[in-house]
Amino acid sequence: MNELLRRMLFLPEQASTFAQDVDHLHYFVIIVTMVSSAAVGLVALGFFWKYRRRSEDQTTPFVAPTAIFEVLAVSVPLAFFLAWFAIGFRDFVKLSSPPPDAMDVYVMGKQWMWKFAYPDGPSSVGVLHVPANRPVRLLITSRDVIHSVFIPAFRVKMDAQPGRYTETWFTATKPGRYQILCTEYCGAQHSKMWGEVVVMAPEAFDEWIKEQQRGLVARADVLADESQVSIQGSLAQWGKQVAVAQGCLRCHNVSGTESATGPSWVDLYQQPTRLADGREIIADEAYLTESMMEPNVKIVAGYQPLMPNYQGKISGPEAAALVEYIKSLRSDRTQQATGGEE
Ligand code: CUA
Repeated sequence: MNELLRRMLFLPEQASTFAQDVDHLHYFVIIVTMVSSAAVGLVALGFFWKYRRRSEDQTTPFVAPTAIFEVLAVSVPLAFFLAWFAIGFRDFVKLSSPPPDAMDVYVMGKQWMWKFAYPDGPSSVGVLHVPANRPVRLLITSRDVIHSVFIPAFRVKMDAQPGRYTETWFTATKPGRYQILCTEYCGAQHSKMWGEVVVMAPEAFDEWIKEQQRGLVARADVLADESQVSIQGSLAQWGKQVAVAQGCLRCHNVSGTESATGPSWVDLYQQPTRLADGREIIADEAYLTESMMEPNVKIVAGYQPLMPNYQGKISGPEAAALVEYIKSLRSDRTQQATGGEE
């Protein structure tokens, strides 16, 4: 039944845990609306025939619907709309809540290609390798204009915006190769801005990533060339270099003591933070990036708005590296992420 409907509606293959949920809602909406509009059309045709004018002096009788008919005419469509909203909202919440154990991949769009980087090293252009049956979170940004990552077989789509991070996640279900498309008109080559997800069996993926890391060690001395934006070594290690080069550590300390100029980076990631305007936010990737690019949007309570704006001064991958570096700064040594101390 599922397969038949999928083919009838020309939907792509279902290759993630979201695909069935999204398609079931799609079938529900399509079937109800198609059946209803067909019924309305047929009844209208029948009435044209049944109530046609039979003579020149025939008058139209006055018909008043009963109260129960009016109540039904409003409540039945309303019930369907509310049901669709409830199901859609449930799916949306699921799509917006990556599980904590998801594997992170940084995605950067630029005219006109996709780049992917794993926190522990490898990066690639155009091809995203992921394991099957494990949740993967995409942290998405753009180096120039707005793009949008769309993986039709997974039924996930998320905008890529310069200067900030957006996120989405999926669990791929079937090894194979699936298209990645850009769905935001981004210039002359927009229609050619595609990539590919390669879903691998989990063991094959582990093998692949080890292979990639071995390759990285071999070319560890090659510097990240901005025109190539190949991200070398551990992102967190690179982030530390960026922090030193950009002078971040003059105001932010990484030793765990508070300083007067800027908030400490130790344990900052995922920490609830009170702002000067009274709001409380969680210091996630989106907040950390925004603080680099538009520092005056959210001022932490107790600090002055002294932070300079780094929009245009640090690139998307450098911002990603800084975020990874901050994420690696945990006071609990057992939680230390990849190479943050190095
Ligand atoms: Cu990138 Cu369209």
